[in-house]
This record gives sequence, C-alpha cells and structure tokens, in this order.
Amino acid sequence: MTENASKYNGPDHIGIIMDGNGRWAQSQGLSRIKGHRQGVETCPRIIEACQELDIHYLTLYAFSAENWKRPESEVNALMELLELFLMNETETLVKQRVRLHAIGRVEDLPARPRAVLKKAMDVTRKFDEWHLTLALNYSSRNEIVDATKSIAAKVAAGKLDPKDLDWETISNHLYTKEMPDPDLIVRTSGETRLSNFLLMQSAYAEFYFTATCWPDFTKTHLEEAISYYNNRERRFGRTGEQIDVEASLSF
Ligand code: IPE
Ligand code: IPE
Ligand code: MG
Repeated sequence: MTENASKYNGPDHIGIIMDGNGRWAQSQGLSRIKGHRQGVETCPRIIEACQELDIHYLTLYAFSAENWKRPESEVNALMELLELFLMNETETLVKQRVRLHAIGRVEDLPARPRAVLKKAMDVTRKFDEWHLTLALNYSSRNEIVDATKSIAAKVAAGKLDPKDLDWETISNHLYTKEMPDPDLIVRTSGETRLSNFLLMQSAYAEFYFTATCWPDFTKTHLEEAISYYNNRERRFGRTGEQIDVEASLSF
C-alpha cells in the first residue's frame, strides 16, 4: 500500500473499466455480443502495451456482480468469451511471465470458465513481476461484506481484538490484499462513474475518462491516459509546496 507520491513517477497499477462494447456494436448495426467479442480482442493488446510501458499491475473490470441482471443470452455469451479468452491467452501470459489473479466472487462463476481460470492462475503462479487481475463477479460492496464476515469470524474466535482493528487490517481482508492500490483508473465509453469498481482502493487514484469505446481502445489511448496521469500532482493530503520539496530532495 505504498503511496506513489511524486508527480514524477509513472503509474504502477492501472485499473480499467472496459465499457462500451454494446454501444460500439449497436452503432454499426451489430449485435451486442459481437461488441463483446471485439472487446475481448483489445485485452491482449493492452496487456502487451502495459509491459512495454512498464506498468506492472493491470486490473481489468470484466464482469460486475450487477452484470448478472443482463439478458441470459448475453450473460452466457460473456461467460463463454471469458473461457475462450483464458484458453487462448494462457500460453501467451506464460511467455510474457504475467501472473494472473482474479478478484470477486469467483466461486459463483459457471464451472467451465472457473476451471480454466483456476488453471491459468496455477500455471502463472510462479511469476512475480507482472500482474494481470481480472475483476469477475466483482462488486466493491460485496468485497466489504466478505471482508467484514471474515474479520467478524476472527473476532468471534478470539483471534482478533476489535480494539486492534484499523484500515490495514481491513485492507488485508480485501480481495486485493496482495496488490498495491491503483494509481490510475481508466473508464472507456464516456461514462464517468465507478459502477462498484475498487471503491476503497481508488481513494487516492487519478481518474481518466475517454469517449472511446473499449473495442477501439489502443496503446495510443493508454499512453494518453498515462500522460494525463503524469501531469497530475498527487498530494495525499499534503500541500503542493511539500511535494515540490520532497521531489527536489529525491533528485
Ligand atoms: C462492457 O461493455 C462490458 C461489460 C460490462 C461486460 P457494455 O456491455 O457495458 O457496453 P455498453 O455500456 O452497453 O455500451
Ligand atoms: C461496468 O460496466 C462493469 C464492467 C465494465 C465489467 P457497466 O456497463 O455494467 O456499468 P453501468 O451499469 O453502465 O454502470
Ligand atoms: Mg456498459
């Protein structure tokens, strides 16, 4: 949970809300599912771009807990695409030495995508430099509920004194406990909301919104987001003058 305080550091962790597949498809008379298929094509491109741009953590919001409310045919197609993506990409992830993680109530995914996901996570477990996290059946509110349940169980078992509860304890019970907070959150398609994505973890993130829909998102768009980020001054509660002094001392 280190603070990436200097304005001279590039982002280490980018979270992307991959939005706009449906509208991308509908704007050209295609079915929403074709849009999802095209959206999946963007993922390997962006994973590779992250390595080229030295971004060690990439978290992709792939399916929210609320997305189950979509028509059954769309949900089924999304689950099939998840399975296909994992089957096609695992070998590449291994070649790229990328470790795959998942956050969300993954246990509630259908058996087939869950099985390929487990396998992909197992075979990439040995890597520790590059991290790709898929948010699947993810909801920040569910994450808090799950963390609270496990903390309450520890209190009930006498393993944790409520007096010792602090943010560090809570953050160590979140799905994201092993990763740094996101420095930058990107959302495509023009929407400017978080839709239940990494609410706690993005407390001090920078936000970048682009009208580009996810199927059209390229490395150039990612570079634009990073350049926006690089021009922000992250103060974490301090003054701009304090940050300038720290930056001058670190040179
Ligand atoms: C994002 O695209 C993919 C998922 C949410 C799974 P959408 O399907 O939300 O696309 P729009 O927002 O309807 O255009
Ligand atoms: C958020 O997008 C979830 C993902 C990108 C996976 P949605 O399209 O589901 O969000 P809302 O419903 O427009 O807020
Ligand atoms: Mg959407």
